[in-house]
Amino acid sequence: MLLVGGLQPTIGRAAIFSGSITDQAEFVVQARGSDRDTQRDVLERAMNETTNDTQARIYQERADEYDALIAAEDADGLLRGALTERLSWQGRRVADVGAGTGRLSRWFAPLAEHVDLIDRAAPMLEVARRRLQSDGVLGRVSTHVADVRSLPLEDGSVDIAAAGWVFGHFRHWMPDGWRQEVGCAVEEMRRIVVPGGSIIVIETLGTGHREPRKHTGLDEYFAYLEELGFERSWVRTDYEFADVDSAAETMGGFFGDELVAKIRKNQWRRVPECTALFSMTR
Ligand SMILES: C[S@@+](CC[C@H](N)C(=O)[O-])C[C@H]1O[C@@H](n2cnc3c(N)ncnc32)[C@H](O)[C@@H]1O
Repeated sequence: MLLVGGLQPTIGRAAIFSGSITDQAEFVVQARGSDRDTQRDVLERAMNETTNDTQARIYQERADEYDALIAAEDADGLLRGALTERLSWQGRRVADVGAGTGRLSRWFAPLAEHVDLIDRAAPMLEVARRRLQSDGVLGRVSTHVADVRSLPLEDGSVDIAAAGWVFGHFRHWMPDGWRQEVGCAVEEMRRIVVPGGSIIVIETLGTGHREPRKHTGLDEYFAYLEELGFERSWVRTDYEFADVDSAAETMGGFFGDELVAKIRKNQWRRVPECTALFSMTR
């Protein structure tokens, strides 16, 4: 068993671990750095948050439903197009931070040299592995069950680190400490990226909105990303479904009744969505 950073394994308690997803009997705690207090802090923070959050539960219990939802997003390919135009993915080493079911990895693994997917929800990564396998690119990815605030990758080991729809959760999961936690996660992305490499953060600017909506909490977080040095742009990433019922059913489980009512009222089978793209060169 490999121990990283001098930590003892914390089987059954660890929220940060790395190991084979198919052999979860023995997780190895994996936290970067040599400072035991820092590692303990990260573990403690991870264990104290999110237990009752609907979306956090979906990531642990209904990963396939999440995957069906996001498969309908970016129907016009505008986000994917913007990422492809902005960055060269060909032959790059990429970290998909908070990878979930591998939406970004599926876009870029066919081009990249290697993609590391990191997420703390093992069921999400299991779906990602299935999808990447059916795409024929499983051989060029690695999956890590780990916390994004302590990435299990070496300093300067990737060219691009991208976090899609991850840190926005910190804003409501950790209303008092989100700034520090987002800062810590972004610092981790900076650490693993080579000088001159790229850091990308993608976040929603409103589901069911044709223009970026105002949202007091998230706007504060977006301003913080800009303070950290990110530049912001945005695109429409509308969802498209076969019919209004599918739109309501697929989106309701994740976004709740208010959005379902809006979908039905507007008879949307195409649900508007605005998405922010934050980018920075290290
Ligand atoms: C909205 S999903 C986005 C997934 C994926 N990036 C995508 O494009 O669909 C958020 C993901 O972030 C993961 N996540 C949230 N907080 C995390 C943390 N502290 N460490 C690791 N993963 C985290 C969740 O488990 C979930 O898979």
